[in-house]
Amino acid sequence: MIVASLSPFVVLSLVYAMPAIAKSTNSQHVNVFMGTTGGGNRFPGVVAAPFAMVKLGPDVKNGNADAYSGYLEQGNVWGFSLMHESGTGGAPKYGVVSQMPVVGEVENPLADLSRPRSGADQGSTGYYMSQLVDGISVELAATPRAGLYHYSFPPNNSASIVVDVSHVLPSFRGLGWEQHYSGGNFSVYSDHYEGFGTYNNGWNLSPDWSIYFCGKFDTAPTSKKTFKGTRETLATYDESLNVSGSERLGGVFRFDASQVRSRVGISFLSAGKACQNLDTEIKADTTLQSLVDQAKEKWEEDIFSKVQVTGASDADRQLLYSSLHGMFLIPSNRTGENQDWDAIEPYYDDIFTLWDTHRCHTSLFQIVQPTAYEEFIRSLIGIWKHDGFMPDARSSNFNGRVQGGSNADNVLADAYVKGVRGAVDWEEGFLAMQTDAEKVPPNNNDPKAPDSSTKEGRGALPDWLNLGWITPFYTRAVSRAIEYSTNDFGLHQVAAGLGKSDEADLYLNRSRNWRNHWNPEASAHNHSGFAVPRLANGTFLKQDPTNCGGCYWGDAYYEDSPWVYSMNAIHDVYKLKELVGGDAKFVDRIDKMFELDLFHYGNEPAFTSAYLYNFVKGEQWRSVERSRQIGKQYHAGANGLPGNSDAGAMESNILWQMIGLWPMTGQTTFLILSPWFPELTLQLGNGKTLQITTSGGDKDTAFYVQSLTVNGKTWDKGWVSWGDVFANGGTMEFVLGSAPNKTWPAGELPPSPASGDANDGTL
Ligand SMILES: *[C@@H]1O[C@H](CO)[C@@H](O)[C@H](O)[C@H]1NC(C)=O
Ligand SMILES: *[C@@H]1O[C@H](CO)[C@@H](O)[C@H](O)[C@H]1NC(C)=O
Ligand SMILES: *[C@@H]1O[C@H](CO)[C@@H](O)[C@H](O)[C@H]1NC(C)=O
Ligand SMILES: *[C@@H]1O[C@H](CO)[C@@H](O)[C@H](O)[C@H]1NC(C)=O
Ligand SMILES: *[C@@H]1O[C@H](CO)[C@@H](O)[C@H](O)[C@H]1NC(C)=O
Ligand SMILES: *[C@@H]1O[C@H](CO)[C@@H](O)[C@H](O)[C@H]1NC(C)=O
Ligand SMILES: *[C@@H]1O[C@H](CO)[C@@H](O)[C@H](O)[C@H]1NC(C)=O
Ligand SMILES: *[C@@H]1O[C@H](CO)[C@@H](O)[C@H](O)[C@H]1NC(C)=O
Repeated sequence: MIVASLSPFVVLSLVYAMPAIAKSTNSQHVNVFMGTTGGGNRFPGVVAAPFAMVKLGPDVKNGNADAYSGYLEQGNVWGFSLMHESGTGGAPKYGVVSQMPVVGEVENPLADLSRPRSGADQGSTGYYMSQLVDGISVELAATPRAGLYHYSFPPNNSASIVVDVSHVLPSFRGLGWEQHYSGGNFSVYSDHYEGFGTYNNGWNLSPDWSIYFCGKFDTAPTSKKTFKGTRETLATYDESLNVSGSERLGGVFRFDASQVRSRVGISFLSAGKACQNLDTEIKADTTLQSLVDQAKEKWEEDIFSKVQVTGASDADRQLLYSSLHGMFLIPSNRTGENQDWDAIEPYYDDIFTLWDTHRCHTSLFQIVQPTAYEEFIRSLIGIWKHDGFMPDARSSNFNGRVQGGSNADNVLADAYVKGVRGAVDWEEGFLAMQTDAEKVPPNNNDPKAPDSSTKEGRGALPDWLNLGWITPFYTRAVSRAIEYSTNDFGLHQVAAGLGKSDEADLYLNRSRNWRNHWNPEASAHNHSGFAVPRLANGTFLKQDPTNCGGCYWGDAYYEDSPWVYSMNAIHDVYKLKELVGGDAKFVDRIDKMFELDLFHYGNEPAFTSAYLYNFVKGEQWRSVERSRQIGKQYHAGANGLPGNSDAGAMESNILWQMIGLWPMTGQTTFLILSPWFPELTLQLGNGKTLQITTSGGDKDTAFYVQSLTVNGKTWDKGWVSWGDVFANGGTMEFVLGSAPNKTWPAGELPPSPASGDANDGTL
């Protein structure tokens, strides 16, 4: 159990006692509050299994602060709800199907019932507790599709529980992305209540969607009432036990007991299915403790047991397992919960977003959870089949928003080249990718970017296809063009693998179109040549390479500088090296990105740029220095992420630093950095392992690679491929030291698969 604001690893024993130590015990190192403050937006509540649909936790109000995952460290709790997103930005999504405990009678259930907490919330894998100032304590446990609440009310007072169907997380940013409640149903029966709420909008601008619920109290209420109201001051209790409509509505349940047990199931299909989910997953006699144990066991088995380390400090172990926890809180496995899908066809929602996760999250997702990953890939293709396009982001069964390119293409390519097969229909997968590459998505007339679709696909496709670059008619023109290049490289990879050689050639050509934005004259800080805005007649626009202007939806570059985006065609690095003026200039350009403060630890577009030193002979040690510099920005505490978790993208970043490799997404290449621990073993499934050891080193003081042995053989390259160490497992034995060995690696540079050949003019 972990206290949020104190030292995160103080073990308390308040209401329930910790279970006896089970076999795999890595969950003891998890701080569920990691990344919940300082803009990390991570969800600390109960997620009973990786990808669980139910994420049960508190919803907190604090002035005009947006509570993206419901939780805020400071402020009043105004409900405990079953659906949340973890580590997202833009605007809060969900925070629906809630209960609020209240001491005594409730005069007006639509008044502000929020209450301060009497201490910091506590949580551990599968368990959460809040204590309110009135002496109410709320303990939570869950299963994938249902939640369990244990309330303790102070003695000598009656207790009430308010179910407000209109409860949904607000946004105060004024960007037009706030959620709205648009109506619901609420019915009370002798042994349960049920109904649904309908909501819309959010960052993905979704239309109305509904979630059904079914609640049971194992402690008999002494009274049950429903209410309806149009304003906070105007709730009326309704004589009928059925209320429905667009007004705010719900129920109030009163109890004479001081201990109240409440169970709630949810479903996207019907109230009946919500009851069924509840009855299958949490029976009347299921104890809270057994659910906590079950959740811990599931996380140990599926996730924490997959990465074992020896010789790590306590702080590093906490960072490792808390990061693994954060990586798998979303997406949500909603297989069987979408009426448009076959019940057995995998369906994952809450993809928030592939723009964030495609660089290093999805590749680690595949390694740690290969079965779920295959389902996830099938689900992306399924979304294309049912909705017309794969998502770049998605929630409440609706695609949106697209920040740059169609990065599902990169994700599918990465999965394809690394051998994800099983039940994936790759012919369909390629058609889904081709839809992104060839079909202009209908414009959803987004006020933030009215030029073209922000819902799905590639809105700026007309320019991309007609000109080979993207003119300023389109918002985010340059950053989109660079991402479209990487997307087309993804199509090339899959086409080549499927034996479609014409398509493979076509998309390889298009993957080089980022070069069309390259203005050799654009210069800053002694560097010339940057990707800049370009008009239809070929004229480049003036551009300060260190500045992205507003850096947002309406600008030429989205959320990062021309300096960073100019290095992002990672499938074409040899060409990039040539364009920037050769090896020395290339190295200096990466250095300057840090020196000029253009590298932002919390922003994904710069992630890979820090390690491109490996593409220059004798410079791998600089990537290692950057890796350590980046590592220092993270710790397992509440403010331990240097930015928004971004659905676990940040957590996967630090995990790769610990492993000592960096994935070149869409390719089989992993750049070699420097592992943190004397020994780290990854379980790859089917009994295969990758064992990474270091000797002679120290994570903080002696981390330079002196030499390396891979699968028992001396290794003189600064990279390995999927086939070398992951496909069948393997070993990597590093010798580390306190000074760089600048003659290592002496061998072949990492591949630059789109750079072609100097002889045929493609380089
Ligand atoms: C609560 O009620 C019990 C018995 O009815 C009584 O002994 C006790 O003093 C009461 N406590 C408070 C705080 O009123
Ligand atoms: C919601 O309630 C209304 C009125 O009781 C009823 O007519 C309607 O069928 C209900 N909707 C659903 C989906 O249960
Ligand atoms: C509420 O509606 C349900 C289904 O429409 C019905 O079975 C039930 O009797 C109603 N309850 C009341 C109190 O009207
Ligand atoms: C996803 O959910 C479905 C339906 O509950 C289940 O069959 C499947 O095993 C789940 N996938 C994983 C990886 O747990
Ligand atoms: C690809 O580009 C090369 C060189 O510009 C050109 O010769 C070739 O025809 C192109 N191939 C396709 C399939 O577009
Ligand atoms: C600019 O780069 C050139 C080599 O490309 C170097 O000779 C010169 O010293 C650099 N000037 C500055 C101010 O860094
Ligand atoms: C290209 O178009 C811009 C804007 O219309 C114009 O100012 C410029 O003169 C044109 N350049 C050429 C070379 O035609
Ligand atoms: C440094 O690297 C070179 C080339 O790989 C190797 O021959 C040499 O043994 C290494 N030095 C140390 C101290 O390991």
